[in-house]
Amino acid sequence: MHVFTMEEEVARKKISVIGAGNVGATAAFLIAQKQLGDVVLIDIVDGVPQGKALDMAQMGPVELFDAAVDGDLDYGATAGSDLVIITSGSPRKPGMTREDLLHTNANIVGSVTENVVKQSPDCIIMMLTNPLDIMTYHAWKVSGFPSHRVVGQAGVLDSARFRYFISLELGVSVEDIHALVLGGHGDTMVPLPRYTTVNGIPIPQLIPEDRIEAMAQRTRDGGAEIVNLLKTSGYYAAGASLAQMAEAIILDKKRLLPCSAHLTGQYGIDDLYTGVPIKLGGNGVEEIIEIELTEDELGFLQHSAQTYREGIALLGY
Ligand code: APR
Repeated sequence: MHVFTMEEEVARKKISVIGAGNVGATAAFLIAQKQLGDVVLIDIVDGVPQGKALDMAQMGPVELFDAAVDGDLDYGATAGSDLVIITSGSPRKPGMTREDLLHTNANIVGSVTENVVKQSPDCIIMMLTNPLDIMTYHAWKVSGFPSHRVVGQAGVLDSARFRYFISLELGVSVEDIHALVLGGHGDTMVPLPRYTTVNGIPIPQLIPEDRIEAMAQRTRDGGAEIVNLLKTSGYYAAGASLAQMAEAIILDKKRLLPCSAHLTGQYGIDDLYTGVPIKLGGNGVEEIIEIELTEDELGFLQHSAQTYREGIALLGY
């Protein structure tokens, strides 16, 4: 077991998670378990963030992690956070698209972001609330932060889904499968089989084209498949994806991950947030990586990003 020394104590990071619901609580639990820093859960339902935090803290002696986990209704508890993860919002119900949630969640994300920024003017904001690429743009605008300090989680989850389906298809460990899914977190997302490999072997060499397309489509529908079963959004894989991104930021790992980032002409897309490969480290989005795409792939990516232009306009941008 790792016991924190005085020196480490001073350097301990603070991660706040706004929205102590299914995804927020899952992310907070995994972040505490990874001992990335002290965790604060915030919600509007009295008792929920406090109760979940206490329960999580009491898991520490069993799982052997030393992390302070606190829950509160008051943003004062988040003061001086290094990273703030926003998961507050209304979840999807069966038949609802992520876009249906636009106005409800824009109001929530707007007020949450104002509160976050007051308490933690130097933090990095990580967005999870849907419609993801629009909410990330909205939080960026409301925060007034430089865009490298506002990032959205989507591609890590979408790529994880694609990786899982490939592992099922081939009967190969998920560990050996790396996938790249770009574009918006919606029906237009862009799985890239040419950049998806099994220990370096591109999947088009291992799987027939029609099967790849079937898995790509199941990935695009991955959220809805779970909503239809569970009657609400999935949260284990989304929470884990947030925790992986939090780890990249807090430990300054400089992971290369598909995330929603603000584009200013890269891939021919300007002033939109969408999923692209980025270098994620202590400064947030440290680099947007422009990979070579075929005309078709680029077209799909641009189309995906453009579908969010209308949503942003609906919010008055
Ligand atoms: N401030 C803080 N918390 C809020 C606010 C707010 N203004 N409004 C709602 N919440 C909280 C809810 O009380 C709830 O605990 O956000 C939490 C959301 O949790 P869930 O309903 O369990 O939703 P979850 O499955 O975690 O999904 C979170 O991800 O899929 C997206 O858009 C979807 O908004 C959803 C988000």
